[in-house]
Amino acid sequence: METRHQPVMLKEVLHFLDPGPGQVVVDLTLGGGGYSAAFLESGARVIGLDLDPEAVAGASRRLSSHGDLFTARSSAFSDFPTVLDELGINLVDGICMDLGLSSDQLDDGGRGFSFDADGAFDLRFDTRRGRPAVQWLRQASVEEIQQWLSRWGEVRRAGRIARALHDLARRSGTVDTPAVRETVTAALGHEDHPNKELARVFQAFRILVNDEMGELERALDAVPSRLAAGGRFVAVSYHSLEDRRVKSMLRRESRPPQGSRHVPVAVERPPRMKILTPRPLRPSPEEIDRNRRARSARLRAAERLP
Ligand SMILES: C[S@@+](CC[C@H](N)C(=O)[O-])C[C@H]1O[C@@H](n2cnc3c(N)ncnc32)[C@H](O)[C@@H]1O
Repeated sequence: METRHQPVMLKEVLHFLDPGPGQVVVDLTLGGGGYSAAFLESGARVIGLDLDPEAVAGASRRLSSHGDLFTARSSAFSDFPTVLDELGINLVDGICMDLGLSSDQLDDGGRGFSFDADGAFDLRFDTRRGRPAVQWLRQASVEEIQQWLSRWGEVRRAGRIARALHDLARRSGTVDTPAVRETVTAALGHEDHPNKELARVFQAFRILVNDEMGELERALDAVPSRLAAGGRFVAVSYHSLEDRRVKSMLRRESRPPQGSRHVPVAVERPPRMKILTPRPLRPSPEEIDRNRRARSARLRAAERLP
């Protein structure tokens, strides 16, 4: 099957990574393979990871003509150091992550990623691991659901929606996306924008079920130690929870030792990264016109110092 995913800010990603023959680039979020295809066309070797086995299978088929230059793994990106170790690769020239989900996943109604498609309330990128969203819901208290909605979805009426979802999970045999959609819409009443809040509720469960923020933090922590001097890192995020984590890793890794009465300068590590984007870049208006899903993207890039 062809991918429907249009790579976001690809021109900018290529500008910062500047891949070419003899280089090794890690694409931590292979998805439809849009970025990886462009890296391969430049002549670079590409290691592509994705948690979703279907994405890996599709991209592997599409990129098979590149032979040994392309290696794909169905793996969480927090495990990328292990994947590199298994391949006998220590340092690489580029690492990129394009967070969130692909259009292929969003359009596949059966997996529950979209609130307006009918399907299972599952939301896992890899259905072989962890618990589907419906199970999280069935085993949670109202307080836990409320906390997830506020923390991971910044949902405005979290208390009201949590009570309604808790009630749904207790009394209903089937909890699928139509049931969740109807319950949330009813809890919101008439005065709100149900689609915006519905998207936030689904985002909250997606982040929870896939431990997205834990995954992101672990992967970010490993980036500086696997980049060769002069190697580049690029992250494209789609909401403030993601962008905040990318920004804070880059700040931490680019800060000169401060020293204090308690921690002498000599004990602190010298900076390992140089920030290339003092402010995050946004997609051009033309790209947003062409691809609505690009509208919330923010790109940050940095270079590994020697
Ligand atoms: C926005 S898409 C990437 C699209 C890709 N850049 C392209 O051009 O086709 C994000 C991908 O990240 C994957 N993903 C999400 N969390 C992941 C994780 N923890 N580890 C690996 N892949 C993950 C999703 O399954 C999805 O395929």
